[in-house]
Amino acid sequence: MSALSIEGVTKSFGGVQALRGVTLSVEAGQRLVLLGPNGAGNTTLFHAISGNILASSGRVALFGEDITRLPPDARARRGLARTFQITNLLPSLSVLDNIRLALCGADRLTFRFFKGMASYRETTSRATRLLADWGLADAADRTVRNLSYGEQRQVEVVMAIAAAPRLLLLDEPTAGLSPAETLGLVDMVRKLPRDMTIVMIEHDMDVAFEIADRVAVMHRGELIAEGNEAEIRANKQVSDIYLGLE
Ligand SMILES: Nc1ncnc2c1ncn2[C@@H]1O[C@H](COP(=O)(O)OP(=O)(O)O)[C@@H](O)[C@H]1O
Ligand SMILES: [Mg+2]
Repeated sequence: MSALSIEGVTKSFGGVQALRGVTLSVEAGQRLVLLGPNGAGNTTLFHAISGNILASSGRVALFGEDITRLPPDARARRGLARTFQITNLLPSLSVLDNIRLALCGADRLTFRFFKGMASYRETTSRATRLLADWGLADAADRTVRNLSYGEQRQVEVVMAIAAAPRLLLLDEPTAGLSPAETLGLVDMVRKLPRDMTIVMIEHDMDVAFEIADRVAVMHRGELIAEGNEAEIRANKQVSDIYLGLE
């Protein structure tokens, strides 16, 4: 069964057709990277998957269930998590507090309530464990705004995986990172468990192939190519777009 199945999804903003009938499916456990120049429609496609916008037409299914008209929280409850292109952290709080809030949000969604001190301690120890698992233990007590931009993007990924999603959407997690920070982020994504299906938006082809089992290329609201590294690198239209010829 596909983890994610998108069929003929369109989205218009006034006169702008951001998605012109996108059909794409992602198998469970797969790492799919969405490549494409700015304005291609990648973020809009993520919004249509996560429910932050509703598709104008078409269908989105998560593990076989039609979620096309569901609000974002209902999709999250079914195992979907995402990061945003713009960072979504609370900058004046510590890293640990940001992770704790992500865990509380996830528990609320799954109706898993805890009360009082026991709950506080339980959430804190889960947050501490998550940070340790992802090599961020030393950052736990630092205020988010004092972290490097690269560290902030890593904390964001940990927040998104706090709820142990079945499908994780990462919107340009390497944007604005130095080459060394990019390597750190790539390493982190590669270590995510295989029971988590991942779709990631990325502009850099080399970074994309570091992560992807399969790459899909968007251009002007349409999926113009799909395949493995050799197929995408050999695709004339893709190289023209990347060389700015189209
Ligand atoms: N809320 C919106 N209102 C109007 N136009 C939008 C909106 N969001 C996106 N667009 C337009 O849709 C197109 C695709 O945008 P987007 O999905 O953000 O591209 P990408 O993430 O691939 O860079 C662009 O032309 C953009 O200007
Ligand atoms: Mg975008």
